[in-house]
Amino acid sequence: MAKVVAGVGTSHVPAIGAAVGQGKTQEPYWKPVFEGMQALRDRLAEIRPDVCIIVYNDHASYFALDLIPTFALGVGSQFQPHDEGYGPRPVPVVKGDPQFGWHLAESLILDEFDLTLVNELTVDHGLTVPLSVAFGQPGEWPCRVIPLCVNVVQYPPPTGNRCLQLGRALRRAIDAYPEDIKVAIFGTGGLSHQLQGERAGLINASYDNVWLDQLISDPERVARISHLELLRETGSEGLECIMWLIMRGALDPHVQVAHRFYHVPVSNTAYGLLLLENG
Ligand code: DHB
Ligand code: FE
Repeated sequence: MAKVVAGVGTSHVPAIGAAVGQGKTQEPYWKPVFEGMQALRDRLAEIRPDVCIIVYNDHASYFALDLIPTFALGVGSQFQPHDEGYGPRPVPVVKGDPQFGWHLAESLILDEFDLTLVNELTVDHGLTVPLSVAFGQPGEWPCRVIPLCVNVVQYPPPTGNRCLQLGRALRRAIDAYPEDIKVAIFGTGGLSHQLQGERAGLINASYDNVWLDQLISDPERVARISHLELLRETGSEGLECIMWLIMRGALDPHVQVAHRFYHVPVSNTAYGLLLLENG
């Protein structure tokens, strides 16, 4: 049977991907950031997940205003990095798992989560930067990937509670998959940041850390936080953090914190990292 072996939360700051690609990880600005990721990389190298379900958001790259799915599941066999204006990120193609993807689709839709299913999909920094955080710069990614894209860009995004419930449904779907595979789930984006307008550069470290504490110990409480509170406290792009609730919902009610790291700023963003394990 398939087994959930890890939950990872990470911001997806594009400059992290550029630092990896340009060999800057040992420079003074970046060294503490990449040192803070090492325990995650070491543990994932031990666990060796077969599949990572990466909950992420597209930044008007593949999806734009002409098509705005609230939740979209990538069921194709591969996903190329998207060209976000400077050429596609120089990272390996992301290999999918259509058999598992279609199982998740069937299980989730029959469980009343009406996802959009996507065969053709390119993936932007929202998905590829978390892969670089977790696995560095390999010749090919060490796992298959199922993209689960969430609209947090165009109002109205889903509620935090809908994300938590989707995570729980995802767990039921994974538990019902008969193949012996190890599955990690990534919740990505956030934490506090605002890239535009008068409050550009906003970071709220005290709020982020309480939010992380509660995500671990009381996710129902985090799921009830309104969009308005998140906008006020964590900035317009801070809302990306609701995707971590899908990851949290797919884990047991009580989890072990295998690694936690927080660093400000990384580019314009509060960088947060969590590795959670069941039991
Ligand atoms: C930055 C952060 C993001 O989440 C993003 O999508 C783009 C840029 C930043 O901090 O620069
Ligand atoms: Fe983003």
